[in-house]
Amino acid sequence: MSDSVVEPSRNEIWKMFDTISSTYDKTNRLMTMGLDRYWRNKMASLVPQGDKIELLDCATGTADQIISLMQKKDSIEKAIGIDLSEEMVEIGRNKLKKHSFNEKVELQIASALDIPFEENRFDCVTMSFGIRNVSSVELCLQEILRVLKPGGRVLILETSIPKMRLIKFFHLLYLRKILPRIGGWISKQKNAYQYLNQTTETFPSGKVFCDLMEKAGFDKVICHPLTCGAVSIYQADKSCKK
Ligand SMILES: C[S@@+](CC[C@H](N)C(=O)[O-])C[C@H]1O[C@@H](n2cnc3c(N)ncnc32)[C@H](O)[C@@H]1O
Repeated sequence: MSDSVVEPSRNEIWKMFDTISSTYDKTNRLMTMGLDRYWRNKMASLVPQGDKIELLDCATGTADQIISLMQKKDSIEKAIGIDLSEEMVEIGRNKLKKHSFNEKVELQIASALDIPFEENRFDCVTMSFGIRNVSSVELCLQEILRVLKPGGRVLILETSIPKMRLIKFFHLLYLRKILPRIGGWISKQKNAYQYLNQTTETFPSGKVFCDLMEKAGFDKVICHPLTCGAVSIYQADKSCKK
């Protein structure tokens, strides 16, 4: 069923986002039929309790996840977003200017594989649709664990594959045949969307991803499947003992 795709170098996937940045939000909304808003809000509901939360959003892109978090959680005192794509971040900065919480948010060009902050700093680290695009999932998880405070929480939103066979069949059909066409039609970069949809199929999800998180050293790993498992939020804490 799948078409062949020219795969970008794993180390340079972020460069592809420079080329699709201007249409990224529009394509996202259309491809998810607006559901991404619901998924992002669900992330906000899982941010740990407490006030004066300092949050890091890895692979922040055009800042949609940070905006949704700031709209839902007054308890976030400071949020920093990092991403390697300057074009995505520029769009994010412009969007943030329209919000009253702009002063509390900072976007920086930096890698989620080499997070430029000291250890034990953040109460919460989020990453939406980003971990599937980094060249080393293990290194990324290690970096997130390093910058989290003991007792802090990571929330990772990522595409996954539904378990029920009939739903899985239609989901794969949608992923392989429809999504690349919508993405290609809006962004004029069909190859990029073919690649992104193929990685959805091959990226570890559910228990396999939970195992990776446990192996990286996270505690209390929970998977929250959403929309029949088309996406999942992985929640885990950094042990207070570390
Ligand atoms: C699918 S977009 C997700 C953007 C945003 N988080 C969202 O929810 O819409 C993936 C992002 O990962 C970024 N990215 C890829 N590799 C990265 C890395 N090593 N460090 C930081 N960002 C990276 C890309 O530049 C892109 O903006």
